Amino acid sequence: MRPLFQILCLCVVLALGRPAPSHHKDMMGDHHGSHHEGHLEGMPHPPHHDHEPHLDRCQGIEFDAITPDEKGITFFFKGDRLWKGFHGPSELLNSSFQEIGSHHHPAHVDAAFRMHQEDHKDHDHIFLFQDDKVFSYYNHNLESGFPKDIEEVFPGIPTHLDAAVECPKDECVTDSVIFFKENKVYHFDIKTKAVKQRNWAHLPNCTAAYRWLERHYCFHGHQFTKFHPVTGSVVGKYPKDTRNYFMRCPKFDHGGNDTERERCSHVHLDAITTDDLGKAYAFRGSFYLRLDTHRDGWHAFAIADVWKEVKSDLDAVFSYDDKLYMIKGDQVYIYKSGAHYTLIQGYPKNLKEELGIEGHVDAAFVCGEYPTVHVIQGQKMRDVNLSATPRNVVNEFHLPFPKVDAAMCGSDGVKVLVGSEYYQYGTPMLLVSSRIRPQPNKISLELLGCDH
Ligand SMILES: *[C@@H]1O[C@H](CO)[C@@H](O)[C@H](O)[C@H]1NC(C)=O
Ligand SMILES: *[C@@H]1O[C@H](CO)[C@@H](O)[C@H](O)[C@H]1NC(C)=O
Ligand SMILES: *[C@@H]1O[C@H](CO)[C@@H](O)[C@H](O)[C@H]1NC(C)=O
Ligand SMILES: *[C@@H]1O[C@H](CO)[C@@H](O)[C@H](O)[C@H]1NC(C)=O
Repeated sequence: MRPLFQILCLCVVLALGRPAPSHHKDMMGDHHGSHHEGHLEGMPHPPHHDHEPHLDRCQGIEFDAITPDEKGITFFFKGDRLWKGFHGPSELLNSSFQEIGSHHHPAHVDAAFRMHQEDHKDHDHIFLFQDDKVFSYYNHNLESGFPKDIEEVFPGIPTHLDAAVECPKDECVTDSVIFFKENKVYHFDIKTKAVKQRNWAHLPNCTAAYRWLERHYCFHGHQFTKFHPVTGSVVGKYPKDTRNYFMRCPKFDHGGNDTERERCSHVHLDAITTDDLGKAYAFRGSFYLRLDTHRDGWHAFAIADVWKEVKSDLDAVFSYDDKLYMIKGDQVYIYKSGAHYTLIQGYPKNLKEELGIEGHVDAAFVCGEYPTVHVIQGQKMRDVNLSATPRNVVNEFHLPFPKVDAAMCGSDGVKVLVGSEYYQYGTPMLLVSSRIRPQPNKISLELLGCDH
């Protein structure tokens, strides 16, 4: 008796083009010598050539502004630099927002937010603030008539802002934008344009503000503090280091709590699986989280302590027949499960030789004992028959996701992890055939049991 999808687990991987952190770090060191975290704010702007060193955000940067774009990718602004997403090097601000980078020297953004209100004409526009002007962009194109004076578009809001963040009505009573300048906070009602000024003396002066997964964060120095968008109250242990939760900083010596960071980080996971003993593993960078029993919860350890040949930065992992298959680049490492994991002799082997597939693997999963590994590569899911020799692709499907980070299959179905969220499907067939995307769930809160 072998139910088709007796789902046990699944696994996956991720990997949006990887940064070359050490490279940038080295360049940083060459040009700026030793500097201390948090002092970047006081540094002169780097000379304006595109071949200049990219600032390394893992060194600890006080951002000028943070906002999502139309697609939900997080943009971080600092001086004339811009980072897209939670990892990767910076680029010039004016390569994405041309007008804001060419009129002013040095180019910079004071504050930014994305208008997210479906019935509003400016839905999904990104508003960038610079001195006394506001620029409205859609798809990186400046809307006609912009830049405008801040006073014209947001009457009652001061110039030379520090930060701005959207706040929809479920979270802020009315659809609002919250602006920050020095220690003052302004709630701007989008419909009525009414402004309420508040003093949240307990909150640090924010240089950037961001709404992520329905929570509001104030960024200051290289740290952040979560606040209630209506009352400004801070609950929990803050500030926290931005590099632990909003960046992928492989070489960052945090000195903090690995378990806390790995469970609560918003950075995508690399790979996830459940083994035949019912233990779940989630991988990110050089750490993995292990769930033994739900009562114990997840705990973080170094990958190199258990799988020393692999060390870090997995692309995909899946469990099959008491073995753990780890994919990294074009290599497959197979470990025998047990009290300890032992690399099977002769491994790693080439992906093509082992599984009959080529190219980058984003994620892979097996459901129960069914001898098929579902390998996700870009928008394709390729099924490989694990009973056949040599192994080869028996089926290929189109996936409803442009980019998957990791995937797993368990008794409750298939989970597809994308960024900081995951989507649940009953079976692999439903994943490839569903026309409606299920509601996303939050990885940190709902999968890894982080409480904030
Ligand atoms: C873009 O910005 C860089 C650095 O701030 C500057 O050197 C360059 O001239 C700008 N490019 C354009 C087209 O304005
Ligand atoms: C916040 O801003 C106010 C007003 O500019 C200033 O007096 C205060 O020192 C700032 N606080 C911090 C911690 O920088
Ligand atoms: C780390 O954080 C976890 C909760 O995420 C907690 O259970 C554990 O006790 C912490 N460890 C240390 C050493 O503080
Ligand atoms: C997998 O390969 C085995 C052995 O060749 C074969 O018996 C089986 O039918 C194949 N399964 C699928 C789904 O192709």
